[in-house]
Amino acid sequence: PMLSMIRNYRNNTIIQIIFLILSISLCLILLTKSLVIQPVHALLEHTRAVGKGDWNFIESIPAGDELGELAKAFNDMTGKLKKNQEEMDKWAATLETRVEERTREIKEMQTVLCRSEKLASLGELVAGIAHELNNPLTGIMIHASLISNDPRLDEELMDDCRTVIYEAGRCSKIVKELLDFARASDSQKSRLPVSRAIDRTIALIEHNADFRDIEIAKEYDPDLPEILMDASQIEQVLINMMINAGQAMPQGGKLLIKTGLNASKGHIYVRIEDTGCGIPAENIEKLFDPFFSTKGHKGTGLGLSVSYGIIQSHGGEIEVSSQLGKGTVFTITLPI
Ligand SMILES: Nc1ncnc2c1ncn2[C@@H]1O[C@H](COP(=O)(O)OP(=O)(O)OP(=O)(O)O)[C@@H](O)[C@H]1O
Ligand SMILES: [Mg+2]
Repeated sequence: PMLSMIRNYRNNTIIQIIFLILSISLCLILLTKSLVIQPVHALLEHTRAVGKGDWNFIESIPAGDELGELAKAFNDMTGKLKKNQEEMDKWAATLETRVEERTREIKEMQTVLCRSEKLASLGELVAGIAHELNNPLTGIMIHASLISNDPRLDEELMDDCRTVIYEAGRCSKIVKELLDFARASDSQKSRLPVSRAIDRTIALIEHNADFRDIEIAKEYDPDLPEILMDASQIEQVLINMMINAGQAMPQGGKLLIKTGLNASKGHIYVRIEDTGCGIPAENIEKLFDPFFSTKGHKGTGLGLSVSYGIIQSHGGEIEVSSQLGKGTVFTITLPI
């Protein structure tokens, strides 16, 4: 019986030990699962989400141990990634508008270049022809007026003779305009107030028949600096533009001349505003082309291209904005 008791005791002990080992293992497994596997699993889930571009942070960070450190490092990394991604998104969004802006600038530069090239080559051609035409035209005018004053001239031919003089006069006016156009580049500049040029121009045009029913208003900035300019050329530009404005308001209207300073851009501006017929959008591009005119035989279409050349040689710019049926604004800028 002693032996069987000992055996029994041994068996019990073995069973107890096995049971102990099993329960310790179970505890260990459960502990590992809750302390290591679950957080690692969560981390994995978060990493996958971040990989898909879903910025979720780990909210419950296990305190103290290595896993806690790992979670913190993970959150830091996600934060930085998120910031970078946001910056890139912002960049991508502005990139498109920036590209658009640059493309527009380049296009504008191209038209300006194209226009000046056209003007330059046309200028040379025109100067040559105009010069050659001047002498024979003067001859025609002189001889026609000699004939018209001659008592031998039949009274019935008088009208024809006057027509010759009138038409020759028109030709010579066109030739003069062409020469002005070609000469736009050599000028004599001095510092002058732009308001003086405007006043002189208004005095010239206000008694013109085109301006009979037009109210002319001035709004000058009194503190405008003087501008380096060729006064007669600038006056020519102003005459062209004011006459255009007058012709755009056959039923009458208002012509407003405004000056101002744009110190940050380093220029002054002169706005010539009318309440006339306006310009259709498809014509805006062609306005400054030599010989573009909608006035038939009443216009040569050189006014604005001459003006363009003059303002360009002063380092300035001309801008147009127009509303059909409401009016047109020409803005000339000149560098200080
Ligand atoms: N203020 C304005 N309002 C409406 N249309 C205008 C105005 N200014 C210019 N235009 C348009 O632009 C065209 C070109 O003007 P531009 O001064 O170059 O030539 P023009 O006036 O026709 O002839 P020119 O000035 O040589 O006698 C005009 O025919 C007209 O259609
Ligand atoms: Mg004109």
